[in-house]
Amino acid sequence: MVGLIFDSLRDPGTPAAAGRTSPGAATAARTPAAAPGSEADRETGTVRFESVSKTYRSAAGPVQALDRVDLAIPAGAIFGIIGRSGAGKSSLLRTVNRLEAPSSGRVLVDGAPIDALDTDGLVALRRRIGMIFQHFNLLAAKTVRQNVALPLTVAGVPRHAIGPRVAEALRLVGLEDKADTYPSRLSGGQKQRVGIARALVSDPEILLCDEATSALDPETTLAILDLLRDINRRLGITIILITHEMSVIREICSDVVVLEGGRVVETGPVWRVFGAPEHPTTRALLEPLTRGLPPDLAARLQPRPAPGGWAILRITCSGRAAPDLSGLAGAGAPVRLL
Ligand SMILES: Nc1ncnc2c1ncn2[C@@H]1O[C@H](COP(=O)(O)OP(=O)(O)O)[C@@H](O)[C@H]1O
Ligand SMILES: [Mg+2]
Repeated sequence: MVGLIFDSLRDPGTPAAAGRTSPGAATAARTPAAAPGSEADRETGTVRFESVSKTYRSAAGPVQALDRVDLAIPAGAIFGIIGRSGAGKSSLLRTVNRLEAPSSGRVLVDGAPIDALDTDGLVALRRRIGMIFQHFNLLAAKTVRQNVALPLTVAGVPRHAIGPRVAEALRLVGLEDKADTYPSRLSGGQKQRVGIARALVSDPEILLCDEATSALDPETTLAILDLLRDINRRLGITIILITHEMSVIREICSDVVVLEGGRVVETGPVWRVFGAPEHPTTRALLEPLTRGLPPDLAARLQPRPAPGGWAILRITCSGRAAPDLSGLAGAGAPVRLL
C-alpha cells in the first residue's frame, strides 16, 4: 500500500497587483501618479537593495547585521523575509523606511535612492510606507479613531479631510463599529486591524510587517493574512513581511528571501524555494512544515524501504493544474491518501 502526503503550494501566477488604487478608491478615484505603462508607474511600489551592509556599534564591539544584500522587490509583491533569530531580518526591513541607515550600499524606493533624503524627503518617504508591528504599538489613551487618525494629524492634514479617510480605513479592516472604543477593550486581532488601518490611512505604496501575526492565535492569524492579501489585491500595495511562521509565507507570499548571518542565502518565488529548497538554512527553517505525518506513522518510518512495507510519498504541487495521480494507482499498488 502506498500513502501519499499531499502538499499544495501557492499558485505562482496569483499574486501581483493589476494597478494601485487608494484605500479611498471606493469613494474617490485616485489620480494616477504617472500614465499607465510609463517608467515611473512601473517603479511605484518597488524596493531595491544594492549591496546593503549594516554594522551596529555596540558596547561589546561592532555587530555586522547585514552583509552586502542585493535584492529586488517588485511592485505588488507579497515578499517574505525569513531567517533565524538575529539573521538581520528587522535590520533589512528597517532600511526601507530608513529607521536604520545602511553602513554602505543603497536602498532605492520607487527606483529612487533614499540615502540622500533631507528631513522633508524622509517625512514624505515614510508617508508612502506603512508599518505594522508584533505588539501593535497603539496609544492606550486614544480611541481607535484617534489612533488611526494619528499619522494624518501629525502630517497636518486639515480636520475635515481626516474624518472620511479614517472612516474609510476602518471600513477596509472591518472595524467601523469600534471607532470610539479604546484599545484595551479590543482582542489581539482587532488591535492588529487598528494597526493596519493606521498604516493604510496615509495611502501608502508599501506596507512593512515585522512579525505582525506572531502575537496572534492561528485562527486570528489566518483572518489577518486574508486581510493583508485583500489589501494587496485591491489596493496594489507591495507588502514586505517578516515572520518565523513558515505557514504564513506559504499562505500569502509570492516571493521569499532567506537571510543567514546578514547575507542572502536563497531567494525566489515561494513555490520554487519551498518546493525545492537548496540551502541548508532554508531546509532547516522549513522542517516544521514537513512534519505533517500522523505520529503513529512517523514513529514507524525507516530510512530504507522494507520488504512488504509501505512507501510514503510526499508530492509537492507547484503548478496550476491539479496533479494526475491515476498513474500511481495504475502501477498495481493500492493508494491511500493521507
Ligand atoms: N540597535 C542595535 N545595536 C546593536 N546590535 C543590534 C541592534 N539591532 C540589531 N542588532 C544586532 O544585529 C543582528 C541582527 O538583528 P535583527 O536585524 O534584529 O535580526 P532579526 O530580526 O533577524 O532577528 C543581531 O545580532 C542583533 O543582535
Ligand atoms: Mg527581528
